[in-house]
Amino acid sequence: MKLFTVGPVACYPEVLEVMKQQMYSHRSIEYKRLHRETVEFLQSFLETEAHIYLFSSTGTGFMEGAVRNCVNKKILCCINGSFGKRFAEVAVLNGKIVETIEPPLGEPISPDVLDEKLSKCPDVEAVSITHNETSTGLINPLSKLADVVKKHGKLLLVDAVSSMGGTDIKVDKWGIDVCFSSSQKCFGVPPGLGIGSVSKEALKKSETVQNPGWYFNFKIWEKYHKRNSTPMTSTIPQIAGLNQILKTIDELGGKEKFFEVHRKRNRIIRNEIQKQGLSIFPKKGYESPTLSCINTPNNVDGITIYEKMREKGFELAKGYGNLKNTTFRIGNMGYIEFQDITAMLEVLNEVRQDCGW
Ligand SMILES: Cc1ncc(COP(=O)(O)O)c(C=O)c1O
Repeated sequence: MKLFTVGPVACYPEVLEVMKQQMYSHRSIEYKRLHRETVEFLQSFLETEAHIYLFSSTGTGFMEGAVRNCVNKKILCCINGSFGKRFAEVAVLNGKIVETIEPPLGEPISPDVLDEKLSKCPDVEAVSITHNETSTGLINPLSKLADVVKKHGKLLLVDAVSSMGGTDIKVDKWGIDVCFSSSQKCFGVPPGLGIGSVSKEALKKSETVQNPGWYFNFKIWEKYHKRNSTPMTSTIPQIAGLNQILKTIDELGGKEKFFEVHRKRNRIIRNEIQKQGLSIFPKKGYESPTLSCINTPNNVDGITIYEKMREKGFELAKGYGNLKNTTFRIGNMGYIEFQDITAMLEVLNEVRQDCGW
């Protein structure tokens, strides 16, 4: 089966190779060396001096950690789909008061609307933004939104689960306080690792919030960061895999080259989709560089396309949340060869014709 999923994605072969190695203790010199090197790679990749924590959880663990450490009472959640909604739900279930901005599905967060909302809600402590909303295939104008959040002096919490590694994020320049992702997306590593940066301001806030919890407590993580380790058992195979892909990216000539690979795959898929008469769901100009969310016509549902493609050896992704039946998605993250894109698009053309479309 060739994977064009939106996570977990196909893993890079060299990643799988290093993950086979025998285990060692997460308190050993071997681990500390691996941890430190991986953290340094990530700091350079994200252009940040902020400390990087490697959570033994998926990305949602970092989402919960961001809420618990950076918000005492009130957060503003920007919602463009299911994952923005999840951020708000996590905040509600952790006892926070949640303000929201929720444009119609497929439209980005507008910097002007955000500015107006923050002017009306001065007691908001932090703002959450989903950089790349995987459920709708939309990318938000993060650097512009970040400028607004910083103008109002709020903490900025960014879900970069399906963008980190696939498109540039300048953590320090943009002023992001918590920027997190998961191993199973653009880095092409198996699931189980939450990867994120935590600014000095976020860390300071975590020292004053009530009930930050233990597992994702930034203060405890900071203590272990200084020892090049993690408070609990580290997910060593995933960290070794992440370390390997960051090395590969370096060998490829740096992160811009890796982003260009994602853009090229995405461009080929999107151009062909449009040639086949299909349309992309999000508003023009805000299409995700790491996946395409494609509208299905009225008489065919997205799940039929997904199932027919699977029968022919290609796993795409079903529509998600409110778009379950009316869209399907094609991911372009992880280990994908260009010839497989061509083959997948040819098969999609056959499936489309089979469906009388
Ligand atoms: C944008 C976004 N945020 C959060 C998540 C949740 O990530 P995880 O499953 O790693 O917890 C996903 C997963 O698909 C996602 O795409």
